[in-house]
Amino acid sequence: MEFKINFSGRAHNYTEEEEKVVLTAMREAIPLTQGKYLNNFENSFKNYIGSPFAFGVNNATSALYISAQLCQFKNGDEVISPSHTFTASIYPFIKNGAKPVWADIELETRTVSLETIKKVITYKTKAVVVVHLYGCIIPDIEEIANFCKLNNILLIEDVAQAIGTEINGKKAGTFGDFGVFSFHSHKNITTLGEGGMLIVKNKKFADIIPMLRHNGHSSWQFTRENYWMPAMGNVDLPELNGEFIFPNNFSLGEIESALGNELLKRLDKINIQKRERAIRFINAIMQVSSLLEFHRVNNIQHNYHLLVAKVKDNKRDIFIKKMSEEKQIQIVVQYYPLHRYDFYKKLGFDKASVPNTDVFFDNMVSFPFHHSMSEADFSYMLESTQDILSQIKE
Ligand SMILES: Cc1ncc(COP(=O)(O)O)c(C=O)c1O
Repeated sequence: MEFKINFSGRAHNYTEEEEKVVLTAMREAIPLTQGKYLNNFENSFKNYIGSPFAFGVNNATSALYISAQLCQFKNGDEVISPSHTFTASIYPFIKNGAKPVWADIELETRTVSLETIKKVITYKTKAVVVVHLYGCIIPDIEEIANFCKLNNILLIEDVAQAIGTEINGKKAGTFGDFGVFSFHSHKNITTLGEGGMLIVKNKKFADIIPMLRHNGHSSWQFTRENYWMPAMGNVDLPELNGEFIFPNNFSLGEIESALGNELLKRLDKINIQKRERAIRFINAIMQVSSLLEFHRVNNIQHNYHLLVAKVKDNKRDIFIKKMSEEKQIQIVVQYYPLHRYDFYKKLGFDKASVPNTDVFFDNMVSFPFHHSMSEADFSYMLESTQDILSQIKE
C-alpha cells in the first residue's frame, strides 16, 4: 500500500555545518577509526550527559552487550527487564548467561517502575535493565537506582530513545551503573545510520571497556627498547574480578564520531522542537476527542522520540484502518511484548505476568513522528486524526 505519510521516513536532515564537518573528517582523519574525532566526541558526550566515562561504539546493541559481559552472570542469575521494549534491550544479557524475568509497565508512563520491579525481584536477581521507552524518562529512576544499590543489583539504563531527558537536573543514563545510547537512523540524533555510546561510573569497568570494544588491544606493560619489539601492539584478555572476558570489535569510526560531536550541539534544539510539536498535537486532539490517551509530560522529562497513544474502547484497529485507507497515513503498533515472540518462546522465556503490558500493547498506536516531517505533513496528520476520531465517535 502507498502511504502519503510513511511511519519510517528519513528522520533527519543534516545542516551545512554538519555536512562540512563530515567532509573535513573524510579528508583529514588519520586513521579513520580510533582517533582524535572519537576522543573529542566522547569528551563532549561526557560533558553533555554528566558522566566520568563515555565510550563510543558502533551501536547501542554493542553497548548493551558490553554491559552484559561486565555483569559477569553465573548459572541461575536473573535479569529483570520490561517485556514491552525493543528486543536488543535484553537478548545481549541472555547471550551472556542471564535468565530474563519480565517486569510489567505502568499504564501512564509505559515503562517499568520501582513497584513493578519489586514484584519480580528474587534472591537470584543480579541486574535490572530499565528502558526509558518512547523518550520518556522513568519518573522514579532515582528510587530504582537507590533500591538497586542497596540490594547490590547492577542497574542498566537503556536510553536508546530518551537522550537528553532529565529529572532534577540529572540526565537519563547517569542514574545506573551503565547508560546506553543509540545513534541509529531513527533516533533523535544519528551518526549516519548507526552508532552508540556506553557510559559508566565505575573505574574498574572503564579501565577494560576499550579492550572489550577493540579486540583486546592494550599497551605493553613494560618499557620497550625498540618500538617494533616484540610487536607493534599488545593484545591481552580483559580481566575483571579474576575472570577473563572475551573482547569484541565494536568500534565507532572517525567520520561518525566527527558528526556525532557536531550533532550534540543541536540535540537540545531537536528535543525542544519534537516536544513542542508533540504537545501541540496532543492538545489539539484532546479538544475534539478523549479516545486517545497520550503521555502527559510537558517538560524535559520527555523528548518525544516517538508519539504514541492508547486507543480506548477497543477502537484501535478501526482507527488504524481508517487512517490508512482514508488518509493514507501509516500508523503502526510497536513493541510486541517480547515474551510473545517465537525468539523468546524457543528459549523458554514466554512466562510473564504483565497485564498492563498486554493491555497497552493490544490498544496502542504509534504515529509517524520523524524530526524532518514537513509542517504541511504534520498539519495533514493532525487534521486527519481529528477527522477520523470524530467519525469513530459517531
Ligand atoms: C529501546 C532500544 N534499545 C536498544 C536499541 C538498539 O539500538 P541500536 O540500533 O543502536 O543497536 C534500540 C534501537 O532501536 C531501542 O529502541
